Amino acid sequence: MDSVAHRLSVGGAGAALELRGVTRLFGALAALTDVTLTVRPGERRAVLGSNGAGKTTLFNCITGDFPPTSGTIRFFGEDVTHFPPFERIRRGLRRTYQISALFPGLTVLDNVYLACCGVSPRRFSPFRPRSNDALVQAAEDLVEAVHLAAVRGRRVAELAHGQQRQLEIALALAGAPRFILFDEPAAGLSPTERRELVDILTTLPSHIGYIIIEHDMDVALRVVESVTMMHNGRIFKEGPPADIESDPEVQELYLGGGHG
Ligand SMILES: Nc1ncnc2c1ncn2[C@@H]1O[C@H](COP(=O)(O)OP(=O)(O)OP(=O)(O)O)[C@@H](O)[C@H]1O
Ligand SMILES: [Mg+2]
Repeated sequence: MDSVAHRLSVGGAGAALELRGVTRLFGALAALTDVTLTVRPGERRAVLGSNGAGKTTLFNCITGDFPPTSGTIRFFGEDVTHFPPFERIRRGLRRTYQISALFPGLTVLDNVYLACCGVSPRRFSPFRPRSNDALVQAAEDLVEAVHLAAVRGRRVAELAHGQQRQLEIALALAGAPRFILFDEPAAGLSPTERRELVDILTTLPSHIGYIIIEHDMDVALRVVESVTMMHNGRIFKEGPPADIESDPEVQELYLGGGHG
């Protein structure tokens, strides 16, 4: 079955992401306990919670970096619980990491071009000159989408921190993703860079859903339609941003809790 037919047969009108009873143990520590979560195609959601709440572990289970101890994960209807990460990437799942996945010596455009070719630093093969016009155009479009057209020919090592984070978003957008996991994309950004990030996220193509982990509520609540609150490895509240912000229990546990 080719990949398009395969996607259609397993996709359907269901959820983009469906977690049922996901638990992840590290020895005796339960980093996630019985997490059940459904995200629609195209939905944008924030996962919030204090340090150690289990947010990054949730991402690791979804991507397959650290599979769950028990429970199931479906991606566009397909059970991917035991799939290796690359099989999930092939199906349109992307993630940004805190640790940079960029080639510092190459230009902005070349980094995006290589991502469009399916080349990442972890599986770098001898560098091929830009040769495929369609991929060059795709790379140009992505550079534009993350507001880096003005620095497209600059080496990554010369970019400001915020521009590097923008470039990481372009890499996540390469290869027609259907869903992206952003782990604290605003970390270390200036107020101006944060506004830029909000602008980029809110103008992504509407069919691309995402989950964003973000401690900066000004960023998080402006770029999502739903929020999942986590505490001690469990989900304890879900709802639209306005409900979450005004919820007394949330304020007690998180917003007013002196979270750094
Ligand atoms: N690889 C690992 N080995 C052992 N324990 C881990 C591992 N990864 C996470 N943990 C533990 O699981 C719990 C949840 O960690 P996690 O990184 O998911 O939290 P988080 O919500 O992302 O926190 P932060 O806001 O600090 O990034 C923590 O107690 C953490 O120490
Ligand atoms: Mg984390």
